[in-house]
Amino acid sequence: MALRNIRKYGDEILRKNSKEVKEIDKRTKTLIEDMGETMYANEGVGLAAPQVGVLKRIVVVDVGDGLTCLVNPVILEQKGSDVDVEGCLSIPNKQGKVARPTWIKVKSLDKDGKEVEFEAEDYFARAICHEVDHLDGILYIDKLVKEEE
Ligand code: CO
Repeated sequence: MALRNIRKYGDEILRKNSKEVKEIDKRTKTLIEDMGETMYANEGVGLAAPQVGVLKRIVVVDVGDGLTCLVNPVILEQKGSDVDVEGCLSIPNKQGKVARPTWIKVKSLDKDGKEVEFEAEDYFARAICHEVDHLDGILYIDKLVKEEE
């Protein structure tokens, strides 16, 4: 396992679409392990593969309940909307308010390639939505809620 370099805002790779993972081979497993390690080392709650320079549809998330790895994640359904503060390891020392669904249903593969379907709420749902956006080249700053006084 190894720490990977986190790509920062301005790096073109963050704006590209990631490709579906066809096979979870040894290389992919190493990538997943490295992503988890890199996320924890940087005190993040989520990390997407393009953030470490790999255009594959893989994200890791841990909002305090353990590490979740999602391969080829798809948000099947969503409900509600809530505005809260987000940050991103690729945009250091900044935060902004973003509206996200309060409930989502997700389909993906786990780190062993097994199909999983689950529901997520609140902060966990927010983190997944943020990371899945990365796979389509979308950053939270594209979605900032305008402050109204
Ligand atoms: Co991010």
